[in-house]
Amino acid sequence: MQRLYRKRIVLGVGGGIAAYKSAELVRRLRDHGAEVRVVMTQGGREFITPLTLQALSCHPVHLDLLDPAAEAAMGHIELARWADLVLIAPATADLMARLAQGVANDLLTTVVLATNAPVALAPAMNQAMWADPATQANREQLLARGIRLFGPGSGSQACGDIGMGRMLEAEELARAAADCFETGMLTGKHLLITAGPTQENIDPVRYITNHSSGKMGFALAEAAAEAGARVTLVTGPVFLPTPDRVQRIDVVSARDMLAACEAAMPCDILIAAAAVADYRPEVVAPHKLKKDPSTGDGLLLQMVRNPDILATLAGRADRPFCVGFAAETENLLEYAARKLRDKNLDLIVANDVANPSIGFNSEDNAVSVIDRQQHETRFGQASKGHIARALVAFIAERYKES
Ligand code: PMT
Repeated sequence: MQRLYRKRIVLGVGGGIAAYKSAELVRRLRDHGAEVRVVMTQGGREFITPLTLQALSCHPVHLDLLDPAAEAAMGHIELARWADLVLIAPATADLMARLAQGVANDLLTTVVLATNAPVALAPAMNQAMWADPATQANREQLLARGIRLFGPGSGSQACGDIGMGRMLEAEELARAAADCFETGMLTGKHLLITAGPTQENIDPVRYITNHSSGKMGFALAEAAAEAGARVTLVTGPVFLPTPDRVQRIDVVSARDMLAACEAAMPCDILIAAAAVADYRPEVVAPHKLKKDPSTGDGLLLQMVRNPDILATLAGRADRPFCVGFAAETENLLEYAARKLRDKNLDLIVANDVANPSIGFNSEDNAVSVIDRQQHETRFGQASKGHIARALVAFIAERYKES
């Protein structure tokens, strides 16, 4: 099982002798399915060449904060937003001190300040440096700020000393990185998630659909599985691989999607991220429609309403905790709040699809969640994986309070 499948990891390499293990770490992270971008400090470059890490990560290594060419390709803010996890290995005593103080005087420390992703450090230093009260105070401060520490381990050191301060081995670090994504918040719960578009046939060769790629729904399914839930993902036609530990059911039309969801019930939480067609042609022509000279240049299609999957499930006696999505191009919050009321939901995720960098078929999203008391919680622009993990954590909290 690739526990880091599609996870984006920024690997920071500090200036310590353990930097030689970073090469192996890049390989282990990639073996577990992660995409890795390497950022090196000036000191890190003294111990291992950027070329080695570029060859192993298959991406250019990021070195300088003030390099216009590198900033134009993928700037420090972009790199910080891209990351699902920032892992610094080795983290020297100096790096720990600078991070504890919030110093941002090189690319790596700047990325740490700018990221919303979890940050983990793999300390590596001489045992006396590790034991020093200054380092221990920095350690406490970093932990208090939610920064994770992997290790250090104990044993013989490059300098000949024996004691605490050895960087953990690459495989141990890769496993610890994977554990960061396993929250267990939804252990024992069944989540039903809808994703993707539906297709409504006009005739045997044509259909009506929309621009949904399924990325948001699939990211939610992945995040829910990582949170320990049993996940059923009912999806319209999309071109995405099935996340690990997720039961996927493929459907085509809105009516198929409703039938599959009803068959998957009961569930504890329903998240409806699918872009379901509200209407379908009343009659599906048995043969390909031909141009008809008697109707001139036009074609009239009589459409009928599709069932509302979310409202139907929210109206059942065994109603789950219901979370809808609202894709809007105007009056976002007002229309979303109306859908929350009309469909009898617990939460609605308002998605501004007028902005092409978020919403349909984009890599990123930015959403607001509205609850029954009309309180709005904002999730700023980030990758759909990142937004999905934040949403799943939020939904799990609200579900527990309900
Ligand atoms: O798939 P991506 O490319 O990643 O894009 C993500 C997304 C924009 C599709 C997604 O984040 C999103 O906003 N999904 C909802 C899209 C939508 O069309 O919403 P709506 O306002 O039409 O519907 C409101 C809610 O009712 C949604 O939860 C929808 O799944 C549900 N619904 C709507 C109609 C219907 N017949 N049955 C439903 O269950």
